[in-house]
Amino acid sequence: MNTIDTAIRATADRPGPIGVFDSGYGGLTILRRLRAAMPEADFIYLGDNARAPYGSRSFDLVYRFTLEAVRYLFARGCPLVILACNTASAKALRTIQQTDLPDIAGYRRVLGVIRPTAESVDGATASRHVGLFGTPGTVASQSYDMELGKLAPDITLSSYACPMWVPLVENREYDSPGADYFVKKDIDALFAADSEIDTLILGCTHYPLLIDKIRQYVPSGVRLLDQGKIVADSLADYLLRHPEMDRLVTRGGTTEYLTTEDARKFSDMASVFMASPAEAARISDLTKL
Ligand code: DGL
Repeated sequence: MNTIDTAIRATADRPGPIGVFDSGYGGLTILRRLRAAMPEADFIYLGDNARAPYGSRSFDLVYRFTLEAVRYLFARGCPLVILACNTASAKALRTIQQTDLPDIAGYRRVLGVIRPTAESVDGATASRHVGLFGTPGTVASQSYDMELGKLAPDITLSSYACPMWVPLVENREYDSPGADYFVKKDIDALFAADSEIDTLILGCTHYPLLIDKIRQYVPSGVRLLDQGKIVADSLADYLLRHPEMDRLVTRGGTTEYLTTEDARKFSDMASVFMASPAEAARISDLTKL
């Protein structure tokens, strides 16, 4: 048995921090809202920056990388992991929940971001025309189409994949003229396809880091859904309905930051974005502790 399996067993049924996972920096947009909503909870954030972006990768790879991250966070004692990544939620969540979780440890849970976001759409749109920006993987998975098809079948969803937006964020070019070019081009294309859109899902957790540019080019009056707030509200509700999980969340108000890439770079970005000093540590291999 390797160290990850041993640690998962050793921490079984013990309280621990909430794990928050993303391919890179994007999940910080979710963590920021989770922290604000649950300031007393402990969190571990893990960004797989070394292997980002996930958005153009195959189903198998996104699933394998996400499972590694989930197992790593479980081994670090997390009873609950939030996939703060639409691509991982679209491509890996269901298989992990149905196939892997029962074997790993029955009481631990993994939650995603797509379902709560889709649930918030129905009450937000008046025109019943909704736009979605996402990674190529999220858009191709049709996860939002399927969720909305069940929740609000009268809504027309127009989706548009933006393969350049995540690399702009991961390379910290989100303020550059290059960002203006790609953001404007993709927004123009989506609204040319459906000019009745009144509500926009930013279906990738990296995209709020481009929010100033997005606001600049989106037609006025269009509502931008705040996925971080939606996920934070949904988690608070989940913990209310699941006191057995709520009891397993430790409450020391701490946040630990882990990245598979350069710790200095991650600390700089996270400190700015979280508006408080963030000291990250580098994990070179998610399959070992
Ligand atoms: N932040 C992720 C998402 O929400 C994925 C970005 C990527 O790695 O392509 O989809």
